[in-house]
Amino acid sequence: MEVIITSGPDEIAQIGADAFCHLVDRKPDAVLGLATGSSPLTIYDEIVRRYEGGKVSFAGASAFTLDEYVGLSADHPQRYRNVIAAELTDRIDIDPTRVHGPDGLAEDIPAACAAYEAAIAEAGGVDLQILGIGTDGHIAFNEPGSSLASRTRIKTLTAQTRVDNARFFGGDAEAVPQHCLTQGLATIMEARQLLLVATGRAKSEAIHHLVEGAVSAMWPGTILQHHPQVTVLIDSAAASRLALSDYYRETYASKPAWQHF
Ligand code: F6R
Repeated sequence: MEVIITSGPDEIAQIGADAFCHLVDRKPDAVLGLATGSSPLTIYDEIVRRYEGGKVSFAGASAFTLDEYVGLSADHPQRYRNVIAAELTDRIDIDPTRVHGPDGLAEDIPAACAAYEAAIAEAGGVDLQILGIGTDGHIAFNEPGSSLASRTRIKTLTAQTRVDNARFFGGDAEAVPQHCLTQGLATIMEARQLLLVATGRAKSEAIHHLVEGAVSAMWPGTILQHHPQVTVLIDSAAASRLALSDYYRETYASKPAWQHF
């Protein structure tokens, strides 16, 4: 696991955008794994800047989002399909018909989850998955107690996650749907490369467990310790509980140029 303690949002944006842009340069038909929430936003804005500057094209790429609320209407602004369109995919040249998300309005939810897994497999699997992390350690919406072997399925959000996400629903935690569909931990672990982004002190406990804690379903993000290609991109506040922070800084400062994204 590579841990990069950055100087803040600008550096996170540059490193994250490098990861996506270099990937599609190398592999124009790459499969992107996209997250919603606040953490990736500076990266998405930088990707859009580079696209508008003619430096990158996503015309051949496809994308899969991590998760979706159950029951939000098709035109609800917080439906993750709409959120990712507004934040990224409608602002670049990716074909909208190749941007996929779990169907939170499906009548047959198990069938929709199985179909989503099949669609990812049919696309050849995700090349690069961006992830945020919840204050309770969830990745995608795999809340504490999630099976480390889980696949796309319905989950119940914790009270903590609904409070954390109330800011997107006018400050009302009750307005945050209680259920979601989410890629499972085993689904995420099949992506070829993972980039987890977190900022702020509120994430420091989750980052401490993710990087230096024991692997446990109680801190679902810790499963990433078993993935061979993970970069954890954080600011110093999110890094504030890491025991080996000096080592991570030294390692990144002396990283050979050929190893950069
Ligand atoms: C969203 C998702 C979630 C968020 C997490 C952190 O698609 O998968 O796991 O990444 O809740 O959210 P933010 O970035 O808003 O702090």
